[in-house]
Amino acid sequence: MSEKGLNLGVAPVTYGQGDRPPRGDYGRARSDYTCEQNYSQYSPDDHGTYRRLYERQLQQLPGLACDEFIVAVKQLGEVDRIPRFDEISERLLRATGWQIVGVPGLIPEEAFFALLAQRKFPVTDWIRRPQEFEYVVEPDVFHDLFGHVPLLFDPTFANYMQAYGAGGLKASRLDACELLARLYWYTVEFGLITTPAGLRAYGAGILSSAGELRHSIQSAQARRVRFELRRLMRSRYKIDTYQATYFVIDSFQQLFESTAPDFTPIYQSVRKAIATEGEIEAGVVLPNESEVSA
Ligand code: PHE
Ligand code: FE
Repeated sequence: MSEKGLNLGVAPVTYGQGDRPPRGDYGRARSDYTCEQNYSQYSPDDHGTYRRLYERQLQQLPGLACDEFIVAVKQLGEVDRIPRFDEISERLLRATGWQIVGVPGLIPEEAFFALLAQRKFPVTDWIRRPQEFEYVVEPDVFHDLFGHVPLLFDPTFANYMQAYGAGGLKASRLDACELLARLYWYTVEFGLITTPAGLRAYGAGILSSAGELRHSIQSAQARRVRFELRRLMRSRYKIDTYQATYFVIDSFQQLFESTAPDFTPIYQSVRKAIATEGEIEAGVVLPNESEVSA
């Protein structure tokens, strides 16, 4: 999709089904899909939307979000207006060698993987409209910043994200992006972690959502099973409702180590398992599995 050779302007990107064109202006993106944060474009209402979203989520975190997140969320800086990406990047670079870069919205998989592999996290620069306060279809600056950036201050999680990017470039060559995307979904977006104080959320999709934080930890409707890589890669996921299944890790170190091996044979064995036993639907607990309790 990228127009090689052109410095400015790339084709817009959509995932899944929908009849709306993407929100962002891809005409101002560089060939790696990054763009300047268009800070002067934010209106007072935009800053107000960010402040209200931030306040609401912050107050829900205790007892539901993992400690690493609660500690690091302060590093985002400004809470009463949309922070400047450059200022966060400065702190992040010192902490873990990561940076954040602006993007006009969703970007193609390969461009995304390439940025992560360089320890650059793409953050959408526009914010949802007031009428989308509860739910926005595409990720906006609040989801990307509040949900994803705090854990990039955690050294182990930060290393996992870079390894994921490198793994993504490899998965593209192996035609295995769909399997690898499930790993992202069930960890980076919707992961849960056990702690001495109980079950906590670390996934960005949970942490930036008004309702899913409580649902993921406390709802009796949700299934919670131990993180197991091959099982996870066989599992379908929901994109339009709260998750029916969550995978629970013991630590970021466990996550990093269990995803460190070469995935080439793992993709093969998962493909074989899918061909013989099928995919696992969201919400299904296997006979040999036990659920993790809150
Ligand atoms: N170990 C994986 C591979 O060889 C790369 C990877 C690391 C993927 C961490 C995801 C997360 O493909
Ligand atoms: Fe996300």
